[in-house]
Amino acid sequence: MPEATSDSFVSVYEVGPRDGLQNETTILPVATKILLIQELIAAGIRRMEATSFVSPAWVPQLADADELCAQLPRKEGVSYSALCPNKRGLERALSARVPEVAVFVSASETHNKKNVNKSIAETLVAFQEVVGPATSLKLRVRGYVSTVWGCPYEGAVAPEAALRIAHQLRAMGCYQISLGDTIGIGNPRQTRDIVGLFLKEFAPHELALHMHDTRGSALANIVVAIDAGIRDFDASIGGMGGCPYAPGAAGNVATEDLVTMLHGMGLTTGLDEDRLIEAALYAERAVGRALPGKVHVAGRFVPRGISTSQGTDA
Ligand code: HMG
Ligand code: MG
Repeated sequence: MPEATSDSFVSVYEVGPRDGLQNETTILPVATKILLIQELIAAGIRRMEATSFVSPAWVPQLADADELCAQLPRKEGVSYSALCPNKRGLERALSARVPEVAVFVSASETHNKKNVNKSIAETLVAFQEVVGPATSLKLRVRGYVSTVWGCPYEGAVAPEAALRIAHQLRAMGCYQISLGDTIGIGNPRQTRDIVGLFLKEFAPHELALHMHDTRGSALANIVVAIDAGIRDFDASIGGMGGCPYAPGAAGNVATEDLVTMLHGMGLTTGLDEDRLIEAALYAERAVGRALPGKVHVAGRFVPRGISTSQGTDA
């Protein structure tokens, strides 16, 4: 379940080890992934998608999911989740003893077929072997609806199609539905309309936003959702990631950027900005490329003071 909230508390669900690393060309050793996860926990992250129990042929970056889960740091209050597309995925999740799994389906047929090799209807049928059995074994199940803001293949997507799927996921037993702007195409007015539509039929805590930041609009979209009452957001440390089956998609909103903005707005997260910057710098070294997040590059804002000397400060 999302953490107990006050209206000013925002729950950040870290997806860097999953959504981030699934799209990196460098495949990290398990030990490096565990160090990244430790950095995230040290920064205060309490909800984290650690990996995926998907086909290793489809996502080789996460082929080590079973080994990784056996080594996850066990810490009071930290809850791990993993993507799980089918019965085989649930069997692996149960062996790995993760307390939460996430099912995923797109609102557009073409992306769904490219991503899981099934129609939307077939995917929802496959979930019957995941969601019910998992919840009856006391696992929490989260549901993703992807391509809500637009599909890389089909373009515009009717929000009502995503809404229908979200209803089905909730009826199966998903405790929260994360709405994905998979390719980072959304704008704030569209977000106002989509979130407004969902909030007529879902409570705010039943919804999260999963905003990829391909075009720099993720934070603007998140502000609109906060104003509408949403308090759950997915984020990826350093802004790593994307969906390998959504061409051109960049990573999720960077965790350190999101948290810096939220704290600046007077909202609380329980997260430590300095430690998030350290985690993002660690991620950058680990994947061996500059990551797109802003705050780990700029650093925390510290006023420089007003100079009393004449005209030397540009
Ligand atoms: P398929 O090829 O149609 O599967 O793939 P299949 O059922 O025909 O099985 C083929 C082989 O895969 C078999 O092995 C199965 O055992 C194996 P073989 O007999 O050939 O040796 N297999 C598995 N192995 C391990 N774990 C499993 C599993 N299932 C089957 N769970 C499948 C169908 C769903 C497996 C495949 O398409 C797949 O793994 N897709 C995952 C793609 C993916 O992970 N995409 C990225 C995540 S989604 C995302 O990023 C979006 C999100 O972030 C939200 C957003 O941004 O909007 C969540
Ligand atoms: Mg994603």
